Formats: sequence, C-alpha cells, structure tokens
Amino acid sequence: MSIRNIDSFTHTRGESVYLDDIPLVNGTLFASVFGSPVAHGKILQINITEAASMEGVVRIFTYKDIPGKNQIGGIIPDETLLATDEVHYMGMPVVLVVADSAEIAAAAVKKITIEIEKYPVVTNPRTAHANGSLIVPPRTFKIGDSENIFENCTHIFEGVAETNGQEHLYIETQGAYAIPGENNSIRIISSTQGPTAVQKHSSEVLGIAMHRVEVDTTRLGGGFGGKEDQATSWAVFCALAAWLLKKPVKYSLNRMEDLRMTGKRHPYSSDFRIGLDKDLKILAYEVNFYQNAGASADLSPAVLERTLFHCTNSYFVPNVTAKAFSCRTNLPPNTAFRGFGGPQGMFVIEAAIAKAADALGIPAAEIQQKNLVKTGDEFPYGQKAASEANECWQKAIDLYEINKIKDDIIRFNNEQVLFKKGFSFMPICFGISFTKILMNQARALVHVYLDGSVNISTGAVEMGQGVNTKMLQVAANIFTIAPEKIRVNSTNTYRIANTSPSAASATADLNGKAVQIACEKILERLRVSAAEILACDAAAVEIRNGVVQVNQKAVSLNWDELVNASYLKRINLSEHGHYATPGINFDNTVEKGHPFAYHVYGTAFTTVTVDCIRGIYEIDAVKLVHDFGTSMNPLIDRGQIEGGLVQGIGWMTMEEIVYDEEGRLRSNALSTYKVPDIYSVPKELDIHFLETTNDNLAIFRSKAVGEPPLMYGIGTFFALRNAIKAFNPHSDIPFSAPMTPEKTLMALYSNK
Ligand code: MOS
Repeated sequence: MSIRNIDSFTHTRGESVYLDDIPLVNGTLFASVFGSPVAHGKILQINITEAASMEGVVRIFTYKDIPGKNQIGGIIPDETLLATDEVHYMGMPVVLVVADSAEIAAAAVKKITIEIEKYPVVTNPRTAHANGSLIVPPRTFKIGDSENIFENCTHIFEGVAETNGQEHLYIETQGAYAIPGENNSIRIISSTQGPTAVQKHSSEVLGIAMHRVEVDTTRLGGGFGGKEDQATSWAVFCALAAWLLKKPVKYSLNRMEDLRMTGKRHPYSSDFRIGLDKDLKILAYEVNFYQNAGASADLSPAVLERTLFHCTNSYFVPNVTAKAFSCRTNLPPNTAFRGFGGPQGMFVIEAAIAKAADALGIPAAEIQQKNLVKTGDEFPYGQKAASEANECWQKAIDLYEINKIKDDIIRFNNEQVLFKKGFSFMPICFGISFTKILMNQARALVHVYLDGSVNISTGAVEMGQGVNTKMLQVAANIFTIAPEKIRVNSTNTYRIANTSPSAASATADLNGKAVQIACEKILERLRVSAAEILACDAAAVEIRNGVVQVNQKAVSLNWDELVNASYLKRINLSEHGHYATPGINFDNTVEKGHPFAYHVYGTAFTTVTVDCIRGIYEIDAVKLVHDFGTSMNPLIDRGQIEGGLVQGIGWMTMEEIVYDEEGRLRSNALSTYKVPDIYSVPKELDIHFLETTNDNLAIFRSKAVGEPPLMYGIGTFFALRNAIKAFNPHSDIPFSAPMTPEKTLMALYSNK
C-alpha cells in the first residue's frame, strides 16, 4: 500500500502551517540576538544604553538574567546560551533583545556595541590539533594490523583529502514561539528536530522541571540535521524572555542571521595511506581525520564517531587503523548534516582509491568492485555485513548497460577537444541506527475515538521527509482501515515524552514500530470484543478492511460499529507503544560491537561533461540502484533519493562555505552561497529500486532512506576528476571538495 504524502494537498495550496503561519497571541513580543562581531576574545564592555532607550524596546537580557543554568551543551556542557566573559566565534550570542516588533528588535541589535580584547583566531582544524585543542579525546577504530601489513603491500599510496562544510539551507529558518501558561508553565512552538532537547534545555535554563515545559512541533520547512541540536538555542531564548516578561515571545531568524550564527556540516581535513596487493585487493588502510568542530562540542563527538564507522564505505579492508580528532576552532559549532560524518569518511577512501587508480593507470572501478563487502565480512567496528554490496553494483552495470556508456564516453573524448566527459561509480553502505545505543527508542500514542476515527502521536518530527505519511500508513496497515480515518497529530512533549530527535535516518523505523505495537494491542482488544459481541470463538475473528470477519467471512459488524460497541463495553481504545531496537550494542572502550540494525546499500553511476575552456560542467546522468528493502512508499522514497542525491552533488560541486582568517563568514547570503537549482540537477536521473527480501529491522522491511542517498553525490566529484584527466592527463587535482567550476578550470590547466 502506498499513499500520496498526506501534506501534499495543503503544501500545494500554501495552507500548511509552519512557525511563521501560527496566529499570534495578543501582546506577543519579538526577540533578536546580538552576536559577537569578533571570533575570539575577552568581553571588556557591552554598551546597550542606546538600544535600550529605543521606542518599542522592552528589555535587553544578558547571561546575568538567566534564572537557571547558562548552559545548552548537548553532549558535553561547553556551550553557554549567552556569552559570559569570552566569545569563541563570530555570531556567538551575547545579548538578547526583546521588542514590540521584529523590526524594532533587529534595529536595536544594530545599536549595541561591544569592546573585546582580541585573542588569536583559529579556523583550521590542523592548527587546533597542533595546539592540543580538542573537543574530546581522539578515537581510534582498528581491525587487523595495518602497521605490519603495509610491508606486504605491492602498491602503497598516500595523500590528503579535504571536504568543506555545507549550509543546511532549510527553507524555513530557525525559530520558535514561547507562550507562558498558568502555574509557571510554558508552551514552546519550535521548529526543531528534537522537541525533547528543547524541553530539557529550556527547563534547565529556566530552572524548572521538564513537566512544566510543553514543546510542540507541527512540521519543519526542512531540517537536514541543522535543527537536531541547533534549534534549541532560539527556542530557549524565546522561553527565557517569555518566562521573565510573562508575555509570549517569538523569534524567527532572518536568512542572514541564520547563515551567520548557526553551524554547518563539519569540514574535514584528512591524511590517508592505502596498501594493495598485486591483485588490487586493499590489504591495509590508515586514515587520520581532522574534524573542524567549531567553538563547542554540539554533536561533533557523535559525528566524529560516524566518520569512523563509515571510513571504509562499502569495502572490506582487513587491516584498518582510523583515528579521528575533533578539533576546536573559532567557528560556529558545526553540527549534524544528512549523513552525519559518514560522507566525510567515505570521501577519503574514495580519494585513496582514485589516487591508487591514477598511479596504476587503471579505472578506479576495478579497485572498487574488487573490494566490495560480501556477506560475513567484518567492518572495522566488529559488525558483520549481512548483504553483498556487489548486488547493487552489478545490477547497475547490467540494467543501465554501463559498458556501452563507457565506450560512448571514450569515443566522445577521442573525438572532442574542448569538451570531455568523465564517469564514476559510487557505492554506498550506510549503517542504520543512532550510534548512541540509548537513543534507539521511540514511543507512540494511538487513540481510537468512539466514532471509529484514529489519532496518532509519535516522537517523529515531520520535516518534509514524509514521516507522518509513513506513520499513518503503519496504522492503516495494522488496522486495515482507510487512510482517511487516521490523523497524525503534531509532535508534542506532553503526549510523547523523552523523544530522540528525528535523525539518523531511523525516525520512521523507531516511531513506526512504536505505532505498530500500539495499534496491534488495540486491534487485539477489538478482536476479543468482536468475538464477545458475536458470541463466537475469538480465534475465528479477524478485522479486515474495515469489517469484522468470522472464519474469513464478513459479518454485519463494521469497524465503526465495533469501535463504538467496544467503547460502550468500556474497552480501552487507546494505547501507548514503546519500541527499542533489539540486538544492537557497542562497547566504546574497545570500539567494537553491533551498532546498526542493518545497512543500506546502493551504487550510483555518474557521468559528466566538462567545458574545458570555461571550467563549467554539466551532470549528464546519474543512474543508480538502491537497496530499499521493500519500500512502503515508493513515491516518498524516490523523493528522498532525488533530494539526497542533489544535496550531495551540491556539497561536492558548487556549495562553497568561505570563512576568512578572522572567522567571518564570507559566503553569508544566497548571492555568495550557491545551492543546486533545477538547472544543475542531473539531466537524466534513473533510480532502480532493488527489492531485497532478507529480513531486517526496518518498519515493514522498508529500509531507512533519509541519509544514504546523499553519499551518491560524492560520485560527481570523481566523475569530474576523470573528465579533467581526459583533457589533461598530467593535471594536478587536489582531493579537495567542492569541485567548483573555478577549481575545475585551475585543474584543467595545471601542470600544462
Ligand atoms: Mo540527522 S544529520 O542525523 O539530524
């Protein structure tokens, strides 16, 4: 059963409600934050007099006004809500202004001045590492004995690989709206992937119990990881001001504030060494990852961990030593972004393979395919592969007649002088589950009303990915009633407690299973109730497609009648389901375990054409085979693949974040930060659904699809590289993403 995204009707009519669409309570005030104009230093003096005297300015708050803790660190407590004596990045919140309108609040912020004694600014993770400035102690994943195995390798290559950050660019910027309630309670409407994080930190900052803080989220206009942790501060600012002023307070960031003050995907700088035997088997791989964490931890330690988990991508390497350093710099704290460190890890091994292939004068695909993981192969973290990565790869070759495409490309390149084509394979293997085991739990609250209609609440946050549609499908599937009878409610901490953020691609699995558990319990009670009503054996009763069946024959008792009759008999028509992923574990004292419920596999084949005069390029086609398990909603899942792929291509090609040496964001507007538009998507995009039937822990065996497709975008970098090599075989092309047209042009004419 597949259904259309339940939001599609209101989305296309512009009727879907986002934070900025919520009708305001009379007397609502507006907040704006004054962020540090200096990336690192000691605060000597803050001058708010002029701002405070502006007509319409209600109050200006500093850290001294915080009744509870001035602390919002998620993993480690190293992040203040408002700066105390030092600033650590440009844009770091120092002062909170509250005014009668958003315009006045913003104007007042401009009148604030600050004196800061400047300290040295570090923006490069390797410099931070050299200074010993790490967020957490280094982590090392190890399998086999790479140190000694290198001696036996026929071919050894080493190098450096760099990936830049990425702006989330959710269409809806960060924001929240807090409304004080009776008896010292507060309601916060927040554009967050993590309602519980908002609830917890608001409660700590206000110094009140969590049960006084209600967080409600209807949907987000995009998250991509950017609102997993970093939605919190804006919500807490609103809560703080609302609490202290006893008035509703709203803050919806403008785009430039959002770009300047929030963290992004972590840039990484990495060193690799790869060793192969004469048959091109990768025997050994060593890698050091330097993660640019920004000024505080945020989610960096968890992101770092996932880099290590995915450092060998889709390949089996028997001897690996991977070290990762989370380096503290004077940039906004970098944070979750679709793939969560995985893409950064995968890029490096793809670079290592490309380097080996170049040196050996063979296509990278020869090395790639030879080393794909097979069932039973052990990943460096101890878990064994349950599938063959070659399945998607080989299917792609056969289905898309890739050998013919390759011949065409060779012919094209022989004939053309000023245009060259390149291609690449990009296999992916992504582990599904939060790597922090405790987060792999979810709850759902299902009510069947006495008219037979159903209302579902879960911890899942709808952010455009279609999770609410999937939750509805789960209930419709278990109850076998029409989707129209079911409604999915907002995500609310008063209905669903202690939620994990909607993240790690695991939201539909975790919350869907909780919905399934709750629905099954209600269904069972209804079945027993029906047997009582019909005076028959409960084992003979089934409820199918909205009617009661006895011995597979429909009787004259439909869903609505059964529900109502059961209510009259005082049967419980509500259930709270709890799900915790079974069988997963990880011991980080030895860095081994079975952290993932399952892996998602796939292979993308990318072809590009480079204009060798101008350095500009087009992506001719991406043809991919993706392991969906058994997709429960092919329309939504296709959308996730398309969006993830294009976002990955953006990261690898045109999206270029630039901070200057003072830590100032130069790409601070949409005129200087380019994301893919309809003209830059692949001209041809083929997505083949590989239906794999082996058992897995996905909801209805429909595998998680949020993050994995982003990594197909990495293929574009290597396809461009190959096109440049076709033009200039001696070109020097650093493994430095994004491969912008400017960098492409430089590479085309390097060493000429
Ligand atoms: Mo997602 S990057 O796990 O919020």
